[in-house]
Amino acid sequence: MWAVLAAAGSGERLGADRPKAFIRLGEQPLLAESLARLDASGWIDAIVVAAPPDWEEPAILLAEELGCGKVSACVTGGATRADSVRLGLAEVPPDAAVVVVHDAARPVLDDAVIERVVTALGNGWDGAVPGLPVPDTVKRVEGDRIVETLPRDELRVVQTPQAFVADVLRAALTGSDWTDCAAAVEAAGGRVRVVEGDPRLLKVTDAGDLDRVAALL
Ligand code: CTP
Ligand code: MG
Repeated sequence: MWAVLAAAGSGERLGADRPKAFIRLGEQPLLAESLARLDASGWIDAIVVAAPPDWEEPAILLAEELGCGKVSACVTGGATRADSVRLGLAEVPPDAAVVVVHDAARPVLDDAVIERVVTALGNGWDGAVPGLPVPDTVKRVEGDRIVETLPRDELRVVQTPQAFVADVLRAALTGSDWTDCAAAVEAAGGRVRVVEGDPRLLKVTDAGDLDRVAALL
């Protein structure tokens, strides 16, 4: 069981003086929380971190400082999230059975969610992702005109960690435009399952999210 931690984004919407993974959350950089939690998980054997260009060294030092002995490699990420995950996957050995991909931007990673996605694989399932029901009514629009009201019961907001049969993810993750790994596997015809998500898996996107996430720690 391998984990790829996607931490290579620039954090443009946060607009800080450094990449999002190295923004302070409490006493530590944001990356520390998800890294330590993956390292502590009994479901994960080894971790590959995708770091922003020029931040590989700080990422390695942070892993050492935290005593994260499962970190096997730290790669330089790519231009998009899909590129970063692919570059990380290249460091996962061919005999790995399962790869769990997680966003460093979602620091509040509970081990129970890792367990849910990992144990949902098998029986023909190629992937498993955490999802939450959508509380609001969702419309599809063209400009400001509503063209469709979507059936809410059929919608889920999906999160990471996302678990995949390693070979299936490797084969599916071509191209750069996937906003999540599941989309690549779905498009390749893979069977991806949704399991119960966790509202604490908030993604830090803008400055307000930092306070919300800090309150959950
Ligand atoms: N990510 C990555 N490599 C990229 C882009 C994103 O590894 N080239 C990672 C981010 O580090 C983050 C996750 O993918 O953990 C989700 O991306 P997002 O929240 O969009 O982060 P950023 O791309 O950094 O933020 P922004 O889009 O505001 O620039
Ligand atoms: Mg982004």
